[in-house]
Amino acid sequence: MPTWDELQQELQTLRDSARDQLAKATDPDALERWRIDYLGSKGAIKDAMARLKELPRETRGQYGKLANEVKNTLNEAYEQARSATVPAATASTPAEDVTLPGRKPRVGHTHIITQTIQELCDIFSRMGFEVAYGPEVEDEQHNFIDLNIPAWHPARDPLDNFFIAGCGEDVMLRSQTSTIQIRVMEDSDLPVRVVACGRVYRPDTVDATHSFMFHQVEGLYVDEGVSMADLKTTVEQFCKAYFGPDVATRFRPSFFPFTEPSAEVDILFHMPDGSGKWIELGGCGMVDPNVLDAVNIDPETYTGWAFGLGIERMVMRKHNIHDIRTLYESDIRFLQQF
Ligand code: DAH
Repeated sequence: MPTWDELQQELQTLRDSARDQLAKATDPDALERWRIDYLGSKGAIKDAMARLKELPRETRGQYGKLANEVKNTLNEAYEQARSATVPAATASTPAEDVTLPGRKPRVGHTHIITQTIQELCDIFSRMGFEVAYGPEVEDEQHNFIDLNIPAWHPARDPLDNFFIAGCGEDVMLRSQTSTIQIRVMEDSDLPVRVVACGRVYRPDTVDATHSFMFHQVEGLYVDEGVSMADLKTTVEQFCKAYFGPDVATRFRPSFFPFTEPSAEVDILFHMPDGSGKWIELGGCGMVDPNVLDAVNIDPETYTGWAFGLGIERMVMRKHNIHDIRTLYESDIRFLQQF
């Protein structure tokens, strides 16, 4: 049985020779071989530890302590050597080739709704309409009162509108672009012939066909002798320009407080199975005399018509989009198709 001195000597020799070997292991492969030899599961430290059980009780404690110290010393030395050695992969990576062509910055494009608004403004400009704008934050005067929508009308229910708290009684997000009709008539000389596109807000529950925010295109024409025939022709011509020359349009009698008579506009959409389906695009009609009165235009001399159509509806039909939410999710994979 070796004496304690001899055992101590053995452990010290192991430590010193391990350090010498480590100093020579300068590349990652050599370092790994060293680790296996000394710290591995069948390495020298493991063997030294295994001797513990052969030793007499009296030397076991001392031996175990020293062996542990050696083990820790070698572990530390190994970690140090490893962090100082450059990994093989990086070491052998070729230098950057500065002659390669650069990466092209990706240029985005406008959103399909913006593109459509531009297209609609274009089509109506060609028909002699000016483009008008109006604020999205409105008051009840422009959103309802001047549009002949009485206080009891369900469209004025506070639960169906976004009123803005802390800004006074009647500040709201506009629920329709018809507000722009009022603003334009307040500010312009007659005749007026304008088209206006923009966002509108209603607290609808979001699903595949509804959103709390969507876009409308509004048209307004006021002059002497303006008739319903002009309205029908303009809307039909517009639908042909946007959807293609074969599109069929129909006008259904309806009611809006700000037009009399009023109609709803549908287009006939050809389904993939060959069948036809009427899709409602929005409303239109002859501007109600009360609306002209509200903006000091004499309804005895002037007549006008107006329409308001849903832009998402048109976009979804034209581009075969089935879920309105995809238009607002900003998923590049979806948007870059258009
Ligand atoms: N503002 C109406 C809506 O949001 C649509 C509309 C109907 C607009 C008739 C008009 C119109 O200009 O004449 O439901």
